[in-house]
Amino acid sequence: MSRALLAFAAGLLMAASAHASDHASGKSIKHGEFLVNYGGCHDCHTPGWAENGGQAPKDMLLTGGGTNFQGPWGTTYPPNLRLYVHKLTAKQWIANLRALKSRPAMPFWTFRYLSDKDLTDMYAYIHSLGPAGKPAHDWVAPGQDAPAPYLKLVLPPLPAVQPTGQ
Ligand code: HEC
Repeated sequence: MSRALLAFAAGLLMAASAHASDHASGKSIKHGEFLVNYGGCHDCHTPGWAENGGQAPKDMLLTGGGTNFQGPWGTTYPPNLRLYVHKLTAKQWIANLRALKSRPAMPFWTFRYLSDKDLTDMYAYIHSLGPAGKPAHDWVAPGQDAPAPYLKLVLPPLPAVQPTGQ
């Protein structure tokens, strides 16, 4: 094979492998998008999502402080996940979600049904949206002034034995 032909063949191989990895990451992002959408993350983490019947412009997606909650735990504001993932590696994201025990109404237990690959794909999708928006308000302790809007929850006392939810 001539040198020119060799270089051409090598170029073709490189192009093919670049294409393959683009394809794989595109697939991961799509799967991550599916998990975020079906997992209901927008319900609370995307401002206006619920009010608009499950829609928001791309620059608002997951920017936090969407649906806030007040109850015996104080007032909680869903954080801006686009800024959140930008400070983390995929490994740190997985470690955080696996250890997560947040205040209401974050359903942190749902991550137990996802594999590390699922969580990596979720990270890939949120990361692909790029950083946007401002950090959400910090948690406000019970009895202190908290900025509205928030959903005020009037709850029954906790049951003596917590169901495992499994
Ligand atoms: C019902 C509302 C609700 C839904 C649905 C929800 N979140 Fe949250 N999320 C919250 C609230 C509120 C907080 C802040 C809790 C606090 O301050 O302790 C939070 C906190 C978080 C945090 C911050 C963890 C940390 O380090 O403090 C992450 C990450 C997160 N949510 C990811 C997600 C993902 C991913 C989904 C979708 C699978 C999701 N959330 C769905 C309300 C929600």
